[in-house]
Amino acid sequence: MANVVVVGAQWGDEGKGKIVDWLSERADVIARFQGGHNAGHTLVVDGTVYKLHALPSGVVRGGKLSVIGNGVVLDPWHLVNEIETVRAQGVSITPETLMVAENTPLILPIHGELDRAREEAASKGTKIGTTGRGIGPAYEDKVGRRSIRVADLADEATLIARVDRALQHHDPLRKGLGIEPVDRDALIAQLKEIAPKVLEYAAPVWKVLKEKRKSGKRILFEGAQGALLDIDFGTYPFVTSSNVIAGQAATGVGVGPGAVDYVLGIVKAYTTRVGEGPFPTELLDDDGERLGRRGHEFGVTTGRKRRCGWFDACLLRQTCATSGVNGIALTKLDVLDGFDVLKVCVGYDLDGKRLDYLPTAADQQARCTPVYEELPGWSESTEGARSWAELPANAIKYVRRVEELIDCPVAMVSTSPEREDTILVTDPFAD
Ligand code: IMP
Repeated sequence: MANVVVVGAQWGDEGKGKIVDWLSERADVIARFQGGHNAGHTLVVDGTVYKLHALPSGVVRGGKLSVIGNGVVLDPWHLVNEIETVRAQGVSITPETLMVAENTPLILPIHGELDRAREEAASKGTKIGTTGRGIGPAYEDKVGRRSIRVADLADEATLIARVDRALQHHDPLRKGLGIEPVDRDALIAQLKEIAPKVLEYAAPVWKVLKEKRKSGKRILFEGAQGALLDIDFGTYPFVTSSNVIAGQAATGVGVGPGAVDYVLGIVKAYTTRVGEGPFPTELLDDDGERLGRRGHEFGVTTGRKRRCGWFDACLLRQTCATSGVNGIALTKLDVLDGFDVLKVCVGYDLDGKRLDYLPTAADQQARCTPVYEELPGWSESTEGARSWAELPANAIKYVRRVEELIDCPVAMVSTSPEREDTILVTDPFAD
């Protein structure tokens, strides 16, 4: 296969970092196509831990082109800092190895301020639990046609006009929230200062990718967040502000839909969620605590404790369908070691009716109670297993049942953060 899309198939934090790193070794180009520095991908390469937020995972591997596509919203100050941090770890980043699409909208300090002020002002039930990074307000400005995009940084008159247009919208909003008006001149000065540091990497990414594809190069499209946080198909309004599902890979960098050959869904062997919103299989008991403790379930970006619960096969059927997932990578199987019984959600009960999908209306979602199937657990350790033969029989049964219930084959199983601790069934890049 020439081009592979990796998407999180739950609410994010499925362990994409390790799988993306493994695949990026086989790819020539690694492209981010949505989200921003709300993401947090941890990579462990040759014993060094890299924590990436805005940069594609490919940057830590030599000889690859990493691309930030137009579907991303980009905080230029964060980008420059992250480049410096990764460089300090010995990684070389140059305009030959990193390109930022010229039509990428910027996240400005005013977006973060608005994001945080709205969350503070929100009453219980309306708070989203955002990362506070300004993602939502930056996407609002994009569809509102008042973004400052990377290319606008190149011309002072254009930049000033774009700032004035944005402030016409933002100052009244800020007034309503009790925030001071924007210091226009300071913002323009900040943008002028950062401009050359970002423009260095600016490129017509769609064109570069066309040439790469023509010369037979392989692209890895690196998704962030998870399909249940998708602005259209997620648990709206408790979602992020971008399309997260695999179709976004094409529009988020400027290739046609036919460019995608394989979609790999990353799926944790149980479920977690950060932030607010419905979570039918959430466990507020000792089992939930245990999953969180064993799985080290704290956010890379915000450090927040993640909510934990049983595996939800019903939601997985949905996300595999909306992203056209060809195979899944099942991660963190070892976290389930030692449970006597494992529960898997196979449907919901809504007001006495059995459903095989999560309804769209938020009030109905909140009233859905999970219908569980129980599977026997295993007492042996699966940590570090690299073949089926190393897994206890009940662990294999669990994986096979998951496969059946979600109607999608398992392409790999990950049994520890180490990249070699993986059972490979299908290599998404193999022809
Ligand atoms: P935002 O993307 O900061 O606007 O946050 C919206 C929702 O998406 C919140 O529930 C966040 O916790 C969640 N979210 C955003 N990015 C990630 C991520 O990378 N992993 C998991 N959850 C995320």
